[in-house]
Amino acid sequence: EETEKINVIFVDKDGEENHIKVPVGMNILEAAHENDIELEGTPFFHFILSFGLFLSNYSGACECSLACSTCHVIVMDTEYYNKLEEPTDEENDMLDLAFALTETSRLGCQVIAKPEIDGIRLAIPSATRNFAVDGFVPKPH
Ligand code: FES
Repeated sequence: EETEKINVIFVDKDGEENHIKVPVGMNILEAAHENDIELEGTPFFHFILSFGLFLSNYSGACECSLACSTCHVIVMDTEYYNKLEEPTDEENDMLDLAFALTETSRLGCQVIAKPEIDGIRLAIPSATRNFAVDGFVPKPH
């Protein structure tokens, strides 16, 4: 039997939506990569941060081991954000280093597809410069 899939929508900096199907149980970073979606918007200091781990600014530099924050995504609807498991302390520590952190930021590698979040919309942080108008709440560092 085929694995159940959910709809996930990535919104880029131009507001373009990219709809993908993600098998339940797969993390969002992996799903993005499988669909050639780059989560980056990675500022230079993140490149430095992940340099020792992976010689690339490709998102997911630490391969989901919570040692980078290049997989940062922003959950666009609070309703969906609240349906996710609480971030662990490790995730929160890494998020604190993320560029353009918001109140609904998560690390994509820690967001696991489940039926409850079918239809979730995720913004890629490089899009945040447009978010002021959309009511995104930046989180003070
Ligand atoms: Fe490094 Fe998600 S890939 S924390």
